[in-house]
Amino acid sequence: MTARPVHVTREIHPSNREISGRLLLGDAVSRLEGLLPEFEGRVKLIYMDPPFMTGDRFFMRLRVGAEGWRGSRANFAVPSYRDLRDREEYLSLLRAVLTLCRRLLREDGMIFVHVDYRADAHVRLLMDELFGERNFLNEIIWVYQSGGRSVRHFSRKHDVILFYARSQEYDFNIDAVMSVPKQPRSNHMRRHVDPDGRVYRSIRANGKVYTYYDDDPVAPTDVWADLNHLQQKDPERTGYDNQKPLALLERIVRCASREGEWVLDPFAGSATTLEAARRNGRRFLGVERCALSLNIARRRLAGCGYALEFDAPAEDAPACRVSVRAGVGFYHASLEAFEADTEGLPEGAGPLDAVDGWSLGYLREDGYHVMDETLRTRRAPELREELAAPVYDGQLMAAVSDVRGRTWYYAVALDE
Ligand SMILES: C[S@@+](CC[C@H](N)C(=O)[O-])C[C@H]1O[C@@H](n2cnc3c(N)ncnc32)[C@H](O)[C@@H]1O
Repeated sequence: MTARPVHVTREIHPSNREISGRLLLGDAVSRLEGLLPEFEGRVKLIYMDPPFMTGDRFFMRLRVGAEGWRGSRANFAVPSYRDLRDREEYLSLLRAVLTLCRRLLREDGMIFVHVDYRADAHVRLLMDELFGERNFLNEIIWVYQSGGRSVRHFSRKHDVILFYARSQEYDFNIDAVMSVPKQPRSNHMRRHVDPDGRVYRSIRANGKVYTYYDDDPVAPTDVWADLNHLQQKDPERTGYDNQKPLALLERIVRCASREGEWVLDPFAGSATTLEAARRNGRRFLGVERCALSLNIARRRLAGCGYALEFDAPAEDAPACRVSVRAGVGFYHASLEAFEADTEGLPEGAGPLDAVDGWSLGYLREDGYHVMDETLRTRRAPELREELAAPVYDGQLMAAVSDVRGRTWYYAVALDE
């Protein structure tokens, strides 16, 4: 039966446990202002990876339809965001965002700001002004090999992550990020094997002998050369330009927050910080202006309780037909037709190929509750033909997302 479009502003993915996070679509400044009444002084860790002042336009490389997901290459690129070039504009955005971030942080909280050579010096001074020079902790150098080489100057192979505390009461947990180095520190040290067969090195300095076991965990320094950038074919890649590796975010999440605490990313992009927080039992808040982020988040956050917040208009919703039948205790629904915009899609792609995923659920006072969903993935490129939702009171709904990151919500009813 033809489904009726409905205006929805919140999509809730319930789990047995409470909702552990939220991703808010919109501008960082207005969304952070909106979080103040509930979260002022409550966030333990903020990581932000804002635009880099390149002036470039970035894309998301998408897989379209089951064939697109089966192939090894993405087959469609949609613009995701345009970076700022104007320094005044850039710094005024960062000043506004960082000022709000400071208010959201707990007294014992910390903030990491990811930049590169273009903005580094400017943002460092801004951070000194807003957070206080005394609260500067590190300028972390993240070294990687990827990217091109230059002959006009030395190749630029690092980013800078500025690390500040909210106050001197900050709660930093170095023990949570210790690891056994891949390469033992062998330089200038004598190698020994102890009676248990463990290898250790020793060095004499100032009349004392220092020994280091190869399998002893060590703490990272402020130069991070052990975490690679994502490779072209990395299975972690979502297709979103400038996606950061999960391992980088996991290190930050573990050392600067504890289980159950709130982690915030005001420029969430492909939701890497949110996934790192979720994997480590933290609660998360993300803000992002690009709607493609929602499609990625549905995949990366699957299985945990979370909410997506946005403003999905009901007008201009493509015509949609969903057939619903009643079974024992359940409604079963199938997506019969969806008149998606196919302009620019790879040749041969039809309207249903433009569907990235769809779900079945109920409209409640606090939003649309997803009961069952199907999303294309490499493992399961075909969408499931039928979704099921337990029979409850309330308006049965279906939501359909297209590959461009737009989602529409429809009231559906039993077939006559
Ligand atoms: C470098 S990317 C973040 C990438 C992210 N760390 C990841 O791993 O995917 C910067 C993000 O900031 C978003 N952005 C830019 N200006 C924004 C604003 N004013 N409010 C909210 N998001 C914004 C862009 O859409 C982009 O996704």
